[in-house]
Amino acid sequence: MKNEKGNMTTFLIAAITADGFIARHSRHLADWTSKEDKQFFTQKTKEAGVVIMGLNTFRTIGRPLGGRHNIVYAPASPAGRPPEEKLQGVEITQENPKDLLARLEQKGYKQAAICGGATIYTMFMEAGVVDKLYLTVEPVLFGAGIGLFTKELDVRLTLQSVQKLNEQSTLFEYNIMK
Ligand SMILES: NC(=O)c1ccc[n+]([C@@H]2O[C@H](COP(=O)([O-])OP(=O)(O)OC[C@H]3O[C@@H](n4cnc5c(N)ncnc54)[C@H](OP(=O)(O)O)[C@@H]3O)[C@@H](O)[C@H]2O)c1
Repeated sequence: MKNEKGNMTTFLIAAITADGFIARHSRHLADWTSKEDKQFFTQKTKEAGVVIMGLNTFRTIGRPLGGRHNIVYAPASPAGRPPEEKLQGVEITQENPKDLLARLEQKGYKQAAICGGATIYTMFMEAGVVDKLYLTVEPVLFGAGIGLFTKELDVRLTLQSVQKLNEQSTLFEYNIMK
């Protein structure tokens, strides 16, 4: 299924705890996910060639992801960020999701990976431009923290595939019904 803008496929990719959290707090590193999920993330995002994320997520990673065009949602002016912060090797944007995806499609990208966090996942879902979700459920509970989304949504999914990445971690591929 394609997004409204054209022929590019936009997918959301996330690892979640068994109780639905993506992190304990906004500076929490994704160091609790499985090796197999990290491998899947690398493979899918390299296939897409472009990764889109928010500033908090970029800060937890601390560097651009290699071999992919990195786009980071962040305030435009250095006044909105600590001046010493290095955002080299990434494209900073404040564009609305539809405009950004249209621009990427014009550049020739066939897929775009929405890599979080919850703020960015929610912004792209609300814009109605996401076609697919890749969710890896990891065998851990946080009890509290940052969920996948920050606002109420009303979205129906169709389950496309279920894959055990290892004995403990399961990958769910969903399409979004439009
Ligand atoms: N488990 C997973 O798969 C996974 C995946 C990704 C991230 N995470 C985790 O999620 C957490 C971060 O999530 P989050 O929701 O706190 O943050 P986020 O979505 O990574 O980034 C949000 C920040 O991006 C900036 N931003 C957002 N929209 C913008 C716009 N239109 N224009 C300009 N700047 C914009 C804002 O920065 P300012 O506030 O400075 O304006 C905002 O605070 C981290 O702990 C990370 O490890 C987990």
